[in-house]
Amino acid sequence: MCGIVGIVGREAVADQVIEALRRLEYRGYDSAGIATLEHGRLERRRAEGKLANLRAKLERAPLSGSIGIGHTRWATHGRPNETNAHPHATARLAVVHNGIIENFRELKRELEADGVRFETETDTEVVAQLVSRNMDRGLGPVDAVAEALPRLRGAFALGFLFAGEPDLLIGARHGAPLAIGFGAGETYLGSDALALAPFTDAITYLEEGDWAILTREGAQIRDIHGAPVERPRQKIATQAYRVDKGNHRHFMAKEIHEQPEVVGRTLAHYVDLAAGRVVLPEPLPFDFARLSRLSITACGTAYYAGLVARYWFEQIARLPVEIDVASEARYREAPLERDGLTLVISQSGETADTLASMRYAKSQGQHTLSVVNVPTSTIARESSVVMPTLAGPEIGVASTKAFSCQLTVLLCLAIAAGRARGTIDAAEERRLVDALITVPGLMAEALTREGEIEILAREVSKARDVLYLGRGTSYPMALEGALKLKEISYIHAEGYAAGELKHGPIALIDESVPVIVIAPHDAVFEKTVSNMQEVAARGGRIVLIGDSKGAAEHGLDTLATVTMPDLDATVAPIVYAVPIQLVAYHTAVFMGKDVDQPRNLAKSVTVE
Ligand code: AGP
Repeated sequence: MCGIVGIVGREAVADQVIEALRRLEYRGYDSAGIATLEHGRLERRRAEGKLANLRAKLERAPLSGSIGIGHTRWATHGRPNETNAHPHATARLAVVHNGIIENFRELKRELEADGVRFETETDTEVVAQLVSRNMDRGLGPVDAVAEALPRLRGAFALGFLFAGEPDLLIGARHGAPLAIGFGAGETYLGSDALALAPFTDAITYLEEGDWAILTREGAQIRDIHGAPVERPRQKIATQAYRVDKGNHRHFMAKEIHEQPEVVGRTLAHYVDLAAGRVVLPEPLPFDFARLSRLSITACGTAYYAGLVARYWFEQIARLPVEIDVASEARYREAPLERDGLTLVISQSGETADTLASMRYAKSQGQHTLSVVNVPTSTIARESSVVMPTLAGPEIGVASTKAFSCQLTVLLCLAIAAGRARGTIDAAEERRLVDALITVPGLMAEALTREGEIEILAREVSKARDVLYLGRGTSYPMALEGALKLKEISYIHAEGYAAGELKHGPIALIDESVPVIVIAPHDAVFEKTVSNMQEVAARGGRIVLIGDSKGAAEHGLDTLATVTMPDLDATVAPIVYAVPIQLVAYHTAVFMGKDVDQPRNLAKSVTVE
């Protein structure tokens, strides 16, 4: 939800801190700040709003210190203004924080009873004051932090800078990711490797409860009990972190257009193209044939990918699926079989609810298989087996290429499950794989419809409410289409199972409500045409996202028809992701919205 960075360097670090924060803006961007040591004294610059506002401040009032920390914020406690912007500081130290200190009120009362006066509404300031009080009581910086950490409850990552300590940073990880980078006479702290990629490819990830003492010579890592511990140092392929928009106006546009390439790359990782069969990249620590049920847990768009996968696992592998949003699954205490399987889907691999839901499944003795886009993420590292999506860094807050890559991996898993369970033979597997192999080309063809979708988007942008309808695997696509539209255009949109329309939502239909129907010509197309007729009879304006056969058959007047290429219905959800993403994108652009960084959102929701 927030991005933190720290650098103990050889020369002025402000520009490096700002560059690292630029790479972390996808984690939150409602305020930003930096602190450095100027001749031993703490100096801060903080600004409300985007990082550009902080950069402007630094141009007017530069910082020259060779050690510093920085922060880009997604507000959890306290309004997104300059006062509440990190770093928070006392005369002795400055601190940046990602996450939530759950017991901050109790600690705040204790500190106020000691005469501490707070300046902000944040939970983070409590951390600064707690460590500062320890130092007032005679503890040095390291001991002051060591004493304070066990008193903090919640999920957080922290970075500390101390007055009068030009060669000391302290970082701590407790439920939110934190990495250490190693340079030549410089050492770095960051929320992820992306932030540190401009400086180094030598990275160590702290584990739960770890904290680290950083100097220019390197880092000393200690575990939750304060004992020195070694963590593996990895070489990160930094070229994968080239984050720019290319020739696109927004990251989201670039990432929509990258889909043929990255879905193809993901597919090649899971399919033996010559043999026409699925070959999973990792051995499975369980046998699909012995499973009586599959549980799936995820949030948001990843959850909708799981909803699509339920149809595939049940229809191809005859494997019953139980799926729930992670924020419910983590508290439901569902009875789960020992040695059963929970599938965990997450682009970031850091979503707090999804991580907690996976940990519950593990506590019940379940195998956990994660489908993630960040193989070094917490969910990846804690799951029994990882099936990566190879979408590359997804910067746009609205998930696009990660979603289609998730669907690609999930269909490969369903095919592998069908083979293991004997519900499909080699010929059927070959047919399904051949259909999958056509997907990148079909997505490229779907992208050629962008011009007509841009025109359609102008009509959609006038709406106050939009309905999305779908049946079968198109039903989760209706949910995803509605989420895409509402999260970047802020238009109210709802996805419904087309068959549900007459059970209430049809009361919403009039000529002011566009109804976007996702309907390839599949086994349920005729049923969906009946729903379209119900809409037309009440003056509703229909947008059909379908194929030429369906478009020729329904015989209704539509506001627009977006004709997708003919395809095997099994892979329709992957290909139809393109038009629903483009409808949302062009509507939001036409409305002048901040497409890559929509209001109130963040790319990785690492708080509950
Ligand atoms: C997707 O467009 C949204 N930004 C959001 O719903 C996202 O899918 C959700 O927060 C889950 O994130 P994850 O895949 O990183 O776990």
